Amino acid sequence: MKLSDEIRAQLVEAAQEARRWAYAPYSNYAVGAALLTSSGKVYDGANVENAAYPTTMCAERVAVFKAVSEGERDFAAIAVVTANGGTPCGSCRQVLAEFGVETVVIIADISGRVVMESRVAELLPGAFLPSDLARE
Ligand code: THU
Repeated sequence: MKLSDEIRAQLVEAAQEARRWAYAPYSNYAVGAALLTSSGKVYDGANVENAAYPTTMCAERVAVFKAVSEGERDFAAIAVVTANGGTPCGSCRQVLAEFGVETVVIIADISGRVVMESRVAELLPGAFLPSDLARE
């Protein structure tokens, strides 16, 4: 799906807003995400850390799990905002791939500047997909 400049800007702004809710007392690396469904809804997310460090959940997966747990499975795009324009981790790429490798991924920094725009297919080439579980 080709994103309009307006939709892109709205998604980045929603991710910037969501970043305010990051619970990141250990890393101090706040992340905000905003996921656009094909039906036009936006689900946001922020990273939620834990004293038992590996229990932490990334902002992107919070957004995806919120959406999927409310019946949404078709995603057009996700915007991710961090202080320095960092990219989604491997686990988040895998979770996004589950629901479609065509999903557009917009990476922006704290000022809202888009530093990269890509698709899940490019961020996770050769992803293990639901089709790989097809029985012979
Ligand atoms: N983090 C995310 O929220 N998304 C990513 O894709 C990368 C990492 C969070 C997890 C942790 O709370 C902090 O950033 C530092 O790793």
